[in-house]
Parts: sequence; C-alpha cells; structure tokens
Amino acid sequence: MKTAILSPNNVQQAAKWLNEGKLVAFPTETVYGLGADATNSQAAQSVYLAKGRPSDNPLIVHVNGPKMVWQYADIQQKDTAMKLMDAFWPGPLTIILPVKAGKLSKTVTGGLDTVAFRMPDNAITLQLISLLDKPIVGPSANTSGKPSPTLAEHVYHDLNGKITAILDDGPTRVGLESTVLDLTSEVPTILRPGAISLEQLREVIGTVQSDHHQIQAGEIPKAPGMKYKHYAPQAQVIIIDSISDFAPAITRIEHKKVPFAVMAEQKVLDQLDLTSAQETFSLGESLASASHLLFAALRQFDLNPQIKYILAQGFSASGLGAAYMNRLNKSAGNTHFKTQED
Ligand code: TXA
Ligand code: MG
Repeated sequence: MKTAILSPNNVQQAAKWLNEGKLVAFPTETVYGLGADATNSQAAQSVYLAKGRPSDNPLIVHVNGPKMVWQYADIQQKDTAMKLMDAFWPGPLTIILPVKAGKLSKTVTGGLDTVAFRMPDNAITLQLISLLDKPIVGPSANTSGKPSPTLAEHVYHDLNGKITAILDDGPTRVGLESTVLDLTSEVPTILRPGAISLEQLREVIGTVQSDHHQIQAGEIPKAPGMKYKHYAPQAQVIIIDSISDFAPAITRIEHKKVPFAVMAEQKVLDQLDLTSAQETFSLGESLASASHLLFAALRQFDLNPQIKYILAQGFSASGLGAAYMNRLNKSAGNTHFKTQED
C-alpha cells in the first residue's frame, strides 16, 4: 500500500477512511498526528503497530470541543478543566482527566483509568473530527523514537506504506508537542512542557507544579511516554548554553578532526567561522522559530551519516524555552559543552 497525500479539500475522503478503521495522519498547530477512530479499538491498535510504539504508552484523544470531552471523561475536575479549555482551546494544551467507565478501550488508555484530551488549533482537523463525529486518537505521526513530524514529508518518510493517507496542510506552526497537564493529581502537574507555559497555566488556575525530570532506571513515570528514548539523531548532540561558547566548542572539535554540524539562530551563524563545519542549519531569528525548526533540523542532519557531532544552540529554560530545552536535552542525552574539559 502506497500512502496517499490528501490536500485539505479532500477532508471528506479522510473522514471516510477513518470511519472505516483506517489510519490517516492529520495536521495540528504543534506536530502531525497519526489518526484513528478513538472508539474503534482495532484501529487504535494499528496505530501502535504503525509507529512501533510500546503498548503501555497511552494515546491522546483529539476532540472538536469541550462537549465531546464530557462524553468520555468523568466530571470530577470539571470546573478547573472548563477554565483551562476556555482559556487555551483550541491550542497546544493536553488535559488528563479520569475516564468515564467503559467509554474508551484499554488500547487507547494504555490500561490507565485516566485519559488525555486535546482540541488542536487547526481548522482542517477540527472539520475532520466534526465530519467523523467521533474523537480521533493521535500520537505524533513519527516512527517511535524519531523526532515528531512538522511537515507531511516527515510523516511520509517514516510511515509510507504503513498508513492509508496523510492530510497535508503545510508546516505546523509551533513545532513542539503540546503541554501535557495532569488534572488527576492533587496539584495540577505538567508532565510534558509545551507552548502553553507554567506561568500561563498559573494565571488561569492558580497552583500548578512541574514534573518532567529525566526518568531514572527502575522509576515508574507518570506519563509513560517520558521513559522512552526520544528525538536522538545518530550524531551526538552537544548543547551550547552560551553563544560565546560556540567558537571554543568548534575549536575543540576541529582538534578531534571529526565531521560536525552547527544549528543556531542566523545571527549566531553569521558571527562564526564555519569553514570546518560539514553542515549548518539556521534556526531563524528567535526562540519561536528555533522551536518551529528544531525537529526538522535534527531530521536533516540524520540524512548525513558522516556527521559525528551536532553543536546546538541552547536557550534559557523559561516560557517556551522550557519546552525547547526539554526536547533538546533529550536529543542530547543532557550533554552540554563545558569550557573546562572534565
Ligand atoms: O502536540 C501533541 O500533543 C501531539 C499532536 C499530534 O496532538 N501529540 C502527541 O502525542 O505528542 P504523543 O502520543 O506522541 O504524546 C503523548 C504524551 C506521551 O508522553 C504519553 O505518555 C502522555 O502524553 N499521556 C497520554 N495519555 C496519558 C495519561 N492518561 N496519563 C499520563 N500521560 C499520558
Ligand atoms: Mg510522540
């Protein structure tokens, strides 16, 4: 089976295929998702197979608005959830709620008694959910362990032949996956940082805590997805926390005489002598553009097997920077450049 690429005006065909239990990748404002009818457990099962995803890692349920949520979620936490939905939906916030008994299969919830909901900010996908008139499950549409797809081409690269179609709506706006907020813990807890920041959530519901530390061996993480290796390219990523450290980092790698690449904002690239770099990737002009382009950069460098190191610009870890640094740290296995070699 060759995977079909559908343009937005073919959204009805996409809905028809989903209704038949087939897999269709869909655009969102964060990254592309791998869609299946959330009420069809066999279809949801094939999502895990296509991605090569461990079956204990639950799927996000995408809805077209709060009304659809309350068909599947228990009304505990309803007031807090409604405040958040009013403030941030449609948008990059996923909310974990207790599941209504018997409403969603174990395949979707990963066997947990909670479920993650999100209303994506993409007109075509909201139309798709409304046409289907059922929620769609949607993990990021990448092969498990690879960077999430921010272009239809990335989805095609990973999943061609494994899914029926990709609904192509161009590049995604944000480029990093949604903020995952658990409302079932005593204090609302961020399990994965995204474009909706801790500060923004606190403004709406008061106390919020953050729990997205690196998972240690033997520890049971609250978001099962946090324990898996993510985003790591074949080359070793080294994070450059201070722009003035790029030049000494390049000098040190030149001594090793191994091929390397550099990814940084354009104004940083412009200041550097990059004649010895195999490849460079411009992250644009800001933290927002760097977030938008991070996964595309990691995928680009993976096409060149010669590259052994990737020097990547770090940002301060607040606001959107918390989400960017969370993904970059995972891709680097937390490797940061130090001016003094240990
Ligand atoms: O932006 C996004 O969220 C994208 C787009 C497609 O919507 N989706 C996405 O899905 O990133 P996925 O499956 O790649 O990541 C979902 C994360 C995983 O880390 C998973 O473990 C966690 O959310 N998660 C899902 N349901 C959960 C639950 N009931 N309890 C705790 N964590 C949950
Ligand atoms: Mg993912």
